[in-house]
Amino acid sequence: MKILIVGSGGREHAIAMSVAKSSRADKIYCAPGNAGIGQIAECVPIGAMEFERLAAFAKEKSIDLTIIGMDDPLVGGIVDVFEAKGLCVFGPNKAAAILEGSKAFSKNLMKKYQIPTAAYENFEDPEKALAYLETAKMPIVLKADGLALGKGVLICNMLEEAQAGVKEIMLDKKFGPAGNQMVIEEFMTGREVSVLSFVDGKTIKIMSSAQDYKRAKDGDQGLNTGGMGTFSPSPFYTKEVDDFCRKYIFQATVDAMAAEGRSFKGIIFFGLMLTEDGPKVLEYNARFGDPEAQVVLPRMKNDILDVMDACIDGTLDQVDLQFEDNAAVCIVLASDGYPVSYQKGYEIRGLENFEDKEGYYCFHAGTKLNDAGRFVTNGGRVLGVTAKGADLKEARANAYKATEWIEFENKYMRQDIGKAIDDA
Ligand code: AMP
Ligand code: GLY
Repeated sequence: MKILIVGSGGREHAIAMSVAKSSRADKIYCAPGNAGIGQIAECVPIGAMEFERLAAFAKEKSIDLTIIGMDDPLVGGIVDVFEAKGLCVFGPNKAAAILEGSKAFSKNLMKKYQIPTAAYENFEDPEKALAYLETAKMPIVLKADGLALGKGVLICNMLEEAQAGVKEIMLDKKFGPAGNQMVIEEFMTGREVSVLSFVDGKTIKIMSSAQDYKRAKDGDQGLNTGGMGTFSPSPFYTKEVDDFCRKYIFQATVDAMAAEGRSFKGIIFFGLMLTEDGPKVLEYNARFGDPEAQVVLPRMKNDILDVMDACIDGTLDQVDLQFEDNAAVCIVLASDGYPVSYQKGYEIRGLENFEDKEGYYCFHAGTKLNDAGRFVTNGGRVLGVTAKGADLKEARANAYKATEWIEFENKYMRQDIGKAIDDA
C-alpha cells in the first residue's frame, strides 16, 4: 500500500512509525512532515490546509490511504474533499469533526444525550456572558468555542479575571473567530486522563489510557503548552472508571453523533476528569493526542493499517484491539523559553543513540536539516523521547536516561513527567 500522512509533528512521526511497522506499507509519504519523519517517509512540501493540492498529489501517486493527523484540516473538511474525489481517507468528515471544532456543539451534544460533563452555558453575546458572571461561582472556566491551538481555555479564580477573559475572547478576539461564541463552565477538580479510541461510525474500540502534562514547568506551573510529556497507561484509569466510561460516555458519544446524522469515523480522544462524582468529559478531540500518540502507539500490537481500514469499512467490531502489557513514558525536549519565545537553529547531537534500540524512540516535532545536512532545532517542542518499561517506574527511568543521549543548546524539559504515578 501507498500511504500519505498529513501533519508535521511528533504525533505524525509516531503514526508514521506505526505505519512503517506494517507489512502492508510499501511506501509512505508525509505532507509536510519534518526532518525526523523524512527518515522513514518521503516528505512532500504541501501544507496541511492545502486540500486540493493534497488530493491532487494523492491521485497522482495512487495513494491507497491518507491519514489525517491534525485537527485543523479535519475541522476544515479535508476528508470531504478527499471523499468527493473517490480517495480513501482516515478521519472524520467535517460534519463529525465538529465534535472537536466547536465546544458549544459538543457541550450541547453531551447535555442532550446525558453524557457526564461540567455544567455550562453557551454565549454569543459578550454582554450576556458578563451578566452571567455576576452571579456565577468562582473559580470558573471560560472556553473559546473554536480551535485555538489548545490555548482557548481560561481558568479564572476571581470575577475581575473572568470579566477580562470574556473581553479577551469575545471582544478583542485573542483567539480569532474561535471566540465568536464561548462556553462558560463549572470548574472541576480531579485527575485528568486521556482516552483515545478508534471509531467506525457505530463501533468504538478503546486504546490504552494516557496522561498528558500540559504546563511548561515542573509541578504544573507555568503556561499551557501543546504538551510536555505523557505516560501510558494511567494507573488512575481503573477497571471501575473504565466500566463507568464504557457505560455512560464512549458508546453514548458514538451513538449520539450517529443520531445527529454526523456519523463519526476515525479517532475520538476523550479528555476526561475523574471527579468525586465520577468521570466527566472535559473535551473531545477528533484525532490522536500529541504527545499521547507517542506513548500509546508504540504499545499497540495491531497493524495500524488493518485497524484504520476497519474504521473506514465499518468492520471495527471484528478487530481485537490489543496493547502490550507494559508502560511507556514520553518526555518532550523543548527549546528553553517555549511556549513564549525561544531561539532556533541549534545543532542536535546524539540522535544516532536511538538507532536499533528496542523500546526507545525519538520522535521529531520541531527539527529540520540545515544546509550541511545536520539536524537542527526548528520549533518550541523539538523532540519527544519515549521509552518503554515493564512498568511505569521503569519506563520513566528509561525515558529520563534516554533524554541524556540528546544534546542541543537551550534544551529544556520537565523533570517530573510521570511523577504522578508515585501517588497511585
Ligand atoms: P480543554 O482544551 O477543554 O481540555 O481544556 C484544557 C485544560 O483546561 C484541561 O486539560 C484542564 O486541565 C483544564 N480544564 C478545562 N475545563 C475544565 C473544567 N471545567 N474544570 C477544570 N479544569 C478544566
Ligand atoms: N495532548 C493534548 C492534545 O493533543 O490535544
